[in-house]
Amino acid sequence: MKLDVFTLFPEAFDWFLGQVHLRRAADLGLQVNLWNYRDYTPLNAGQVDDAPYGGGAGMVLRIDVLCAALEAVFGQDCAALKDQRRVVELTPKGRQLDDALAAELAAADLCLLCGRYEGIDERVEHVVTDRISIGPYVLSGGEVAAMALTDAVVRKLEGAVSNPESVVSESHSPELNGGVEYPHYTRPAEYRGWRVPDVLVSGNHAAIARWRAGQVRTR
Ligand code: 6GU
Repeated sequence: MKLDVFTLFPEAFDWFLGQVHLRRAADLGLQVNLWNYRDYTPLNAGQVDDAPYGGGAGMVLRIDVLCAALEAVFGQDCAALKDQRRVVELTPKGRQLDDALAAELAAADLCLLCGRYEGIDERVEHVVTDRISIGPYVLSGGEVAAMALTDAVVRKLEGAVSNPESVVSESHSPELNGGVEYPHYTRPAEYRGWRVPDVLVSGNHAAIARWRAGQVRTR
């Protein structure tokens, strides 16, 4: 799977891409590339954004800059890219990311477009296949959202998570009918009077399975 991320702040991804599950995914063939729009701008002095037509606050990432970056990196018309991959704009106006969409995105090569300021010129609609939000609130830029989306997608890739069972029945998955997972406990069995449910220390695996299934239903 190929993942190309366009951003004005590639260094924002350094810590994230160093995480063990991302490195494991890379060993299994995930190819992540970060591209800075500013490195490809056809404008002077590294300009990438401009004031909005019609006035108003903030700056808007220019469509000519976005297309120049995509075309320099992929060597083809930016509007043709969507025939080969999911081209995703991260925007609070987008469709909200959920488990099913993450699974769907894991099956394709991806190109993520991060906006800053007031976002990207609306004509980005001609370039993208998807406009995705990570929730009903506004972040200062698409980078954190791109990392959240990438993390959710990479968990869906075969082998990226060391114990595959931890992915199959995790919260929001179809296996749990979109519900949340049962609660987890570890040692000590009692701390400040707070006790682990007796059934979990009973050694009765059938009873434990029943208790967990009950928790999934009631939560
Ligand atoms: Cl994808 N971008 C920004 N800037 N804010 C958001 C978001 C994305 N999703 C939720 N809030």
